[in-house]
Amino acid sequence: MVVIALAASAVAFAVAFFGPWFPEQASVEAGRIAVVFWITTGICIAIFGLVTSMLLYSVWKFRARPDDDSDGLPIHGHTGLEIWWTAIPTVLVTVIAISSAIVLSQNEDATGAMTVNVTGEQFAWSFEYPELDGLVSTDLRLPLDQPVKLVLTAKDVIHSFWVPEFSQKQDAVPGMTTELVITPNKIGEYPVICTELCGLGHATMRSEAKVLSRADFDAWVSDRQGAAAEGGAASGEALFTDNGCGSCHSLDETKLVGPGLGTLTAAAERAGKPVEEFTRESIVQPDAYIEPGFPNAMPNAYGGLSDEQLDALVQYLLEGAE
Ligand code: CUA
Repeated sequence: MVVIALAASAVAFAVAFFGPWFPEQASVEAGRIAVVFWITTGICIAIFGLVTSMLLYSVWKFRARPDDDSDGLPIHGHTGLEIWWTAIPTVLVTVIAISSAIVLSQNEDATGAMTVNVTGEQFAWSFEYPELDGLVSTDLRLPLDQPVKLVLTAKDVIHSFWVPEFSQKQDAVPGMTTELVITPNKIGEYPVICTELCGLGHATMRSEAKVLSRADFDAWVSDRQGAAAEGGAASGEALFTDNGCGSCHSLDETKLVGPGLGTLTAAAERAGKPVEEFTRESIVQPDAYIEPGFPNAMPNAYGGLSDEQLDALVQYLLEGAE
């Protein structure tokens, strides 16, 4: 029975361990979480193998033979067995608890971490680097092997930040901040996914986490800071990207959460306004005109753009529409 149990456990563990169930692991924290996961899963599989082997063996060995109408043996407890099946699970649960506590405390350690402020809003992510002169980006760029402390919040409703390859998930909640420490250890591009149902555009609330070598990251930072110093804030395209407009509006006629910007001229005609005025109004006061067939879903969040920024954005959209 022990041999059967060991064999069944080994087969089940091999299927679990070598199967392609998980995304690749791209952070130190993900590696630690995997260790706890496999300790726990390994214990579960071993116990499962033991119990099912005993059951199957007993069903076969102790089955009632034909014409056997006698009673079973009168058994009343077994102190030795009871001690074992209390002591062993106690040890196993303690092992799981201690390994989890160690990993949790390691994964929350933000010593030497670079801070990135993460803001979720319907339906886009933005990332601000306070230690890099407040650099703002719509994708999350991280240098390899550098611990990063994400400080998350939300502007409107609850969102949730998740990168499968980093194995961790954290809510972004309006009115408070939450934290997540990530130490990326594999260069690559991974999806940033919102995992809290946050409204009509929830499924489109995606971004990218790009793990770069230190040199590539520094080059990106100086590139972005150089552009900002040259008055790049007035670039309509940068405003469109940095405000996450593209997560709801395509630049052609494709329908996303909102209408595609290729239909801007036609919509202005329906609204009965000159296209430039209409475009400006639709940015600062999105519910002034709602395109038929679309929800009133755009946040009233863009009134804070300066006149200069608004001009640049409107010009960019009009050029695109033409
Ligand atoms: Cu934000 Cu779902």
